[in-house]
Amino acid sequence: MTTRPFLRLALAAALLPLAPIASALADEAQHVDIPKIEGLPKITEKDFSKAIRKSFYVNNPHEWERFYSKTLEICNATDSQPSAAQAQEIIQRETKSIVYPKSGKLMGDWKLGAKWAEDVHGGRIGYPGFKDADDPSHPNGANCYACHAMDPKFPQHGNMGPSLTDYGKLRGTTDAVIKYTYDKIYNSKSLNPCSLMPRYGGPKHLLTPEQVADITAYLLDPQSPVNNGGNPAGQAK
Ligand code: HEC
Repeated sequence: MTTRPFLRLALAAALLPLAPIASALADEAQHVDIPKIEGLPKITEKDFSKAIRKSFYVNNPHEWERFYSKTLEICNATDSQPSAAQAQEIIQRETKSIVYPKSGKLMGDWKLGAKWAEDVHGGRIGYPGFKDADDPSHPNGANCYACHAMDPKFPQHGNMGPSLTDYGKLRGTTDAVIKYTYDKIYNSKSLNPCSLMPRYGGPKHLLTPEQVADITAYLLDPQSPVNNGGNPAGQAK
């Protein structure tokens, strides 16, 4: 168990220009001695699932469905290292799930994208008596900042994922980049089978195709603060 965070982080970074760091981490992971603690009770998959269900409260039992999928089953069973055939199967299935906005425009409004990227609303696990954790009349957000730096003036961010500051400035806005970015946000596992990044699009997930297009614009639009040192273009720095 102790090696898992290392392996996952290494795998997550494997598709990025961070490959040297990733392989260093993978090497490190191979050499970790897992301490054996005698006398602890054995936990089966069933016990584990039961404990998870008891620990969290969901307003709607369908929310549990988000936690189970053929893809996650394969990633869990292989410690996120699927065989080539399994990876192919995942990529095909996840790619099929991607839906594009009716307008055909994969880049929407970056200002709305900023709002969705920051907003933590949606998919939150509440407690009995605190049922309004997710007000269903409020659109869901994506909480991208939990894992990524984006606008460099945003007060805080996590770093499980790579920094996306200057994302569009560094990559440009060709059709290929726009489609890659949209697909990555809509369904990260269509590009990296056991990606740690959540799948945002699709019926059981958080965002509409239009919201995904707005976030795509937030990352790529030359006007977005992500590509302007934290200032929307045209504003005093
Ligand atoms: C739980 C953590 C997590 C969250 C939340 C998350 N990501 Fe990621 N993201 C990652 C990781 C890890 C990677 C690198 C591995 C990979 O590509 O799968 C990544 C990669 C990416 C990439 C590819 C970067 C590149 O250089 O090609 C983009 C784009 C991206 N994320 C955008 C987003 C956006 C936009 C959001 C919010 C809608 C988001 N992510 C939310 C973890 C996360």
